[in-house]
Amino acid sequence: MTPNLDIAHLSLSYLTERGRVPALRNVSLAVYPNEIVGLVGESGSGKSTLAMAAMRLLRPQDIALEGSVRVQGQEVYRLSPEDLKRWRWEHLAMVFQSSMNALNPVLSVASHFFDTLSAHRAADSKPVMMQRVRQLLQLVRLDPDVAVRYPHELSGGMRQRVVIALALALNPKVLIMDEPTTALDVVVQKSILDEISAIQTKHQLSVLFITHDFTLVQGLAHRIAVMYAGEIVQITERESLARESVPNHPYTTALMRGIPRLTGSRATLEGIPGEPPDMTRLPRGCAFYPRCQDRRPVCESTPLPEASHDTYVRCHALTAERREERC
Ligand SMILES: Nc1ncnc2c1ncn2[C@@H]1O[C@H](COP(=O)(O)OP(=O)(O)OP(=O)(O)O)[C@@H](O)[C@H]1O
Ligand code: SF4
Ligand SMILES: [Mg+2]
Repeated sequence: MTPNLDIAHLSLSYLTERGRVPALRNVSLAVYPNEIVGLVGESGSGKSTLAMAAMRLLRPQDIALEGSVRVQGQEVYRLSPEDLKRWRWEHLAMVFQSSMNALNPVLSVASHFFDTLSAHRAADSKPVMMQRVRQLLQLVRLDPDVAVRYPHELSGGMRQRVVIALALALNPKVLIMDEPTTALDVVVQKSILDEISAIQTKHQLSVLFITHDFTLVQGLAHRIAVMYAGEIVQITERESLARESVPNHPYTTALMRGIPRLTGSRATLEGIPGEPPDMTRLPRGCAFYPRCQDRRPVCESTPLPEASHDTYVRCHALTAERREERC
């Protein structure tokens, strides 16, 4: 099956006064039709950079980029600026990190939609656009009359639903959601996640769901990608995570040790020792080496094994284990 979003060997550095700051390192990730992929990692691991790069929203003069991003077969970086404007939001849309706080307080909810709708569907009259706004609000389980209200009149959960509806305005097939529920309480979070799941199934969307919260993706995603220091170190089917017979990357295991369990015997929660690396001074080998409980000499200076596209674990210890099993 051809993925709807196909990111291949993407590397990106920010060009700063301090020099190049690597943020993505040879990232390959595919999201198939009708699939939710969760992207998890600590703060600063490169999740938002990956999303912004996939949308081609970073200014070319601020970055050095290699690799490819294809959406429904179209290479995003080959589109002309005019085509990109038309194409973005119709094929690939994004809910930005903290975007519910970025709604314009002096514009009604409907006006936020009119900008996008009129830019792409200039022929539509105002009543036609208003009808579409009301439909979109219903899609995210808001009262359609919310269209005439202002952002400050809405709760956080309602504003978050509005930004999700905005991203869906032009029926994109691929949706990237960057921490869409982080600022919400757990009850509202749960109800929004249920709606995301229902909309994804109904419209057969491909969703890349970004979060630092492992528990969220475990309940929502079909596959989970784990990011550390700008690299994807593991992509796994959700079901495989819990199976002891399928080994996880040591960083994934460390993240999972920090999740409280509701059932079974009591277990002590453990944080991950140490700090994420300084991206301008990455170790030559595995970036997790200084914090890893399973490290071995080869990890210090040897780059991680190459990634394949769908599911993989990139770790020298696991590669060695598999080699030993085969002998
Ligand atoms: N505009 C920028 N200029 C320079 N460096 C940047 C810029 N934006 C991000 N970075 C750096 O790129 C790396 C990845 O940042 P990014 O925001 O993508 O991480 P993240 O995983 O989304 O983090 P969070 O969970 O906090 O949102 C970090 O080291 C960050 O400091
Ligand atoms: S490659 Fe080595 S240091 Fe890195 S996660 Fe695996 S065992 Fe740990
Ligand atoms: Mg981010």
